[in-house]
Amino acid sequence: MKILLLGKNGQVGWELQRSLAPLGNLLALDRHSQPECGDLANPEGIAKTVDDFKPDVIVNAAAYTAVDKAESETELARVINADAPAALAEAAKRQGAWLVHYSTDYVFDGSGETPWREDDAVNPLSVYGKTKLAGELAIRQSGCLHLIFRTSWVYAARGNNFAKTMLRLAREREQLSVISDQAGAPTGAELLADVTAHAIRVAISRNDLSGLYHLVAGGETSWFDYADHVLDVARHSGVQLKLPENALQAIPTSQYPTPAQRPLNSRLSTAKLTGSFGLHLPDWQVGVDRMLAEILEK
Ligand SMILES: NC(=O)c1ccc[n+]([C@@H]2O[C@H](COP(=O)([O-])OP(=O)(O)OC[C@H]3O[C@@H](n4cnc5c(N)ncnc54)[C@H](OP(=O)(O)O)[C@@H]3O)[C@@H](O)[C@H]2O)c1
Repeated sequence: MKILLLGKNGQVGWELQRSLAPLGNLLALDRHSQPECGDLANPEGIAKTVDDFKPDVIVNAAAYTAVDKAESETELARVINADAPAALAEAAKRQGAWLVHYSTDYVFDGSGETPWREDDAVNPLSVYGKTKLAGELAIRQSGCLHLIFRTSWVYAARGNNFAKTMLRLAREREQLSVISDQAGAPTGAELLADVTAHAIRVAISRNDLSGLYHLVAGGETSWFDYADHVLDVARHSGVQLKLPENALQAIPTSQYPTPAQRPLNSRLSTAKLTGSFGLHLPDWQVGVDRMLAEILEK
């Protein structure tokens, strides 16, 4: 099997380099790659890469993910999150290749408290959410074989993440406030990459599985409870924190204004994915604790 991976150095892309390698001949690119074009700001160049390499599967882990910056960089966000996936989908259709793509809980407006299903009405609140939705729609309308995974609250041990920020702040400060009214599931890049590899193995001989799936870790939490869990694990591991125990403060989203509005309810139902692919999604703490074990031992 020939696999083209785009965005190889992002949180998910990095883990996909590992999980896709055993499936076949993997060509992994980032925006600076030469001579093949891996720059999603150049949709024609990306399409040419597909036409030249002739992959069986294209996995697009690249995206414009700066949610707040997208409010003022609308055009670039649209090219990378919508136009490039559209070009990839057309190229995949020409080649008869599968296109695997990631989308977001930000396509929803966050109303209610019920986990969103794949066929629930979308209503993105931000430029990022709108451009990601446009990318999804372009892929679905192209008629190419596809797996679109909507996920949420992605973290990885490599690079910056929410847990590392909380640990740094708790070492520096005696007071810390975290939003408590947004609910979702922190989802590890490792889990996303492993499930992607499993799903490709199954779908490659099952065209009927082409479609949109929600893919997040099990359970749910808030940013406040997530932070509290991270600090708890750190204290139990002997990490010295300046923030006293029980000093973490819960605040509503309204007290932490950001350029982009975020959904309050980011719960995603994964029943379609687990049923279709026979998979089990471990609770969010499993991956977070693993990531913490890695970063705390350094
Ligand atoms: N992070 C989250 O919480 C989250 C939540 C829901 C859904 N998702 C979705 O999950 C997928 C993976 O996200 P992630 O967390 O792995 O994001 P990430 O760590 O920000 O990685 C995105 C990658 O895209 C690359 N990229 C940006 N512009 C590019 C361009 N013009 N050409 C080629 N590559 C470009 C970035 O490269 P540079 O490093 O060079 O900029 C980066 O390596 C995305 O589709 C994202 O929308 C993420």
